[in-house]
Amino acid sequence: MDTIAILDFGSQTTQLIARRIRELGVYSEIYPGTVRAAELLSEDLRGVILSGSPWSVHDEDAGAPDPAVYELELPILGICYGLQRMTHDLGGEVARTAGREYGRARLQYNHDHPLFDHIPEGAIAWMSHGDSVQAPADGWEVVARSEYGTPACIADSKRRRVGIQFHPEVSHCEYGIRVLENFVFGICGASRTWTVEEYLEQGVREIRSTVGSEPVVLLISGGVDSSVVAALLLKALPAEQVYLIYVDTGLMRRDETAEVEHALRAFGARHLSMVDASQQFLDALAGVEDPEQKRSIIGDLFMTVQQREVESRVPGAYFLAQGTLYTDMIESGKGVGGHAKVIKSHHNVRSPLVERKRSEGRIVEPLAHLYKDEVRKLGTALGLPASTIGRHPFPGPGLAVRILGAVSAEKCEILRAADAIYLEELRARGLYDKIWQAFAVLLPIRAVGVAGDAREYGYVVALRAVHSIDGMTADVYPFASHDILEISARITNEVPAVGRVVYDVSSKPPATIEWE
Ligand code: XMP
Repeated sequence: MDTIAILDFGSQTTQLIARRIRELGVYSEIYPGTVRAAELLSEDLRGVILSGSPWSVHDEDAGAPDPAVYELELPILGICYGLQRMTHDLGGEVARTAGREYGRARLQYNHDHPLFDHIPEGAIAWMSHGDSVQAPADGWEVVARSEYGTPACIADSKRRRVGIQFHPEVSHCEYGIRVLENFVFGICGASRTWTVEEYLEQGVREIRSTVGSEPVVLLISGGVDSSVVAALLLKALPAEQVYLIYVDTGLMRRDETAEVEHALRAFGARHLSMVDASQQFLDALAGVEDPEQKRSIIGDLFMTVQQREVESRVPGAYFLAQGTLYTDMIESGKGVGGHAKVIKSHHNVRSPLVERKRSEGRIVEPLAHLYKDEVRKLGTALGLPASTIGRHPFPGPGLAVRILGAVSAEKCEILRAADAIYLEELRARGLYDKIWQAFAVLLPIRAVGVAGDAREYGYVVALRAVHSIDGMTADVYPFASHDILEISARITNEVPAVGRVVYDVSSKPPATIEWE
């Protein structure tokens, strides 16, 4: 499959470059900027991109590509630092620009170049740089300048090398996608082979060749990733070989366990264990108020229960399947050189079971090349219902981090009831899919209210709804006032223990999405 390799020097937008190229239908993979050229080479490789970077080429510790990368008989596109790096490494001159160039700048061409096919003079490019090219290396010429005179594109057309001082991957860059298209198709000659059908086939092939006839175990949470892995396993292997284990912690949302079971049975799951460990979790959590202590109790118990279930249900040697995504691989250091701001997710807990299976080489991770949106497409292609694919994220510790303070069975029931009404209303109003994550939180206080003629103390429920891309930052969803008022009224009318509903209007930062 035609591939574009992206050498990462720590730019915040490296991931974006990779995604944009995949959206064009061409497989792209991110490598540490210093990867050896020999590791990149494959018969599928069609071109190389050198990313931007917080470094200057003059910094002592600035990362540089293996010199052999420049010897490859392949097109190379340098973006920002990538351009400066090539210039510096190949004998040109890069220096600090007088004044930095940030934001919009119009492009003015000196020459025709295939990178700018179908891009009009004066198109707005997005610049962000402190250094710029003073003198291109031998054999290179300036193809375009910014309206302020900075070289915006230089090229060595004979060797199919090109560098740009702007960022085509960001959405403000006019014709940015066209620039990438021109590079990937026009200059590299790649073809559109990265399709949902292709990665479905690739996933099936990979699973079959990895596991052979051994059993495969998958621990499912009901979220999108593990559901897609389950569906893939069931497509790739005889159902007899696939063991699915779901642990009900008692901290799930209303009807969640039943829905997961129903969906997996509909997919032909044969060995499906729905383990009810709710009492064990509630007992372990009794009286515990500290959120981090709750998280660690749940995490530890989860591992103990999983291990016990796997050992008691699966005979002999087996593989463990995991829903690890491409972003998780990169965050764990398999991709980039670690200079980009590394974002840790809460749920990549390394359990002893996973560690052991990894050291035995008995792990299958069929989503490891995919971004989340690609996982959703794959799930759709596999026939998973839209309700599974479009599910809002749900934290591993479940309702325990949405019941502030000590958790009890009674509080779980109250929160489940309020949360179910909230989500049901969002769906009925066509809002669920417009919101990234929405949920109810049970506060550890009671407030006075009136019911009929009597004063009553009821629980306070907070509603949360946010927009986000990746959960790292979030904006509050701006409900129309009638929606939030009607939803609140339904909750207080139908859940007698709740006397008051409030809406959380805090963004992240400074707040977090969850309350604990
Ligand atoms: P915060 O509250 O940190 O949440 O802004 C960001 C995203 O992460 C989810 N989250 C968790 N997921 N285990 C998880 O698996 C956890 O302990 C946990 N805490 C938060 C949260 O739901 C949101 O999507």
